[in-house]
Amino acid sequence: MRHLLLGSLFLALTAQPLAAQEVAVAPDVQAGSLPPLGAVWLAANPYRHQPAAAEAVAIGRDAYNQACARCHGVDASTNAAPAPDLRKLDRGCRRIADPALKARCQADNDAYFARTVRQGKVILGVTHMPPWQGVLSQELAWAIQVFIESRAAGR
Ligand code: HEC
Repeated sequence: MRHLLLGSLFLALTAQPLAAQEVAVAPDVQAGSLPPLGAVWLAANPYRHQPAAAEAVAIGRDAYNQACARCHGVDASTNAAPAPDLRKLDRGCRRIADPALKARCQADNDAYFARTVRQGKVILGVTHMPPWQGVLSQELAWAIQVFIESRAAGR
């Protein structure tokens, strides 16, 4: 029994460095004054419009840099990072002038963003991005998206 325990401890310790890149670690950020959203994920980003937006940018930046930057680039400001440049995600929507069409485009984009963040990107058994469900609150996830979009404006 003792050997078994030691064996699994050894495995757990030695396996860690290999898997470290793929593990989602919760950022040490409080959602603070952002309106709380509860456990059920919304279909669309509730913080994009004022008055929550400025607060969401600040909180989202902190959470992004702790949780996402190591793969997607610091401050979402580089296309030289190993993972896709997230500023490009809403590019198509930003180009739409018609307000109703633009809103529909953003709703689709929000659904894709939330689904991808929650499920991660696991392709043919390889974890390209870990799932964030249960690690990242939806408050922080939506705040991160608002931050990313603030970096994308004008691009
Ligand atoms: C361990 C590295 C890693 C971390 C950490 C990471 N990602 Fe990713 N992410 C990836 C990779 C790699 C892809 C591209 C996967 C693919 O499509 O093959 C990706 C794809 C995405 C996509 C889809 C992009 C597109 O163009 O379709 C979104 C959205 C995304 N990540 C958001 C995030 C957010 C938000 C965080 C932080 C909470 C995060 N990621 C943290 C590696 C990571």
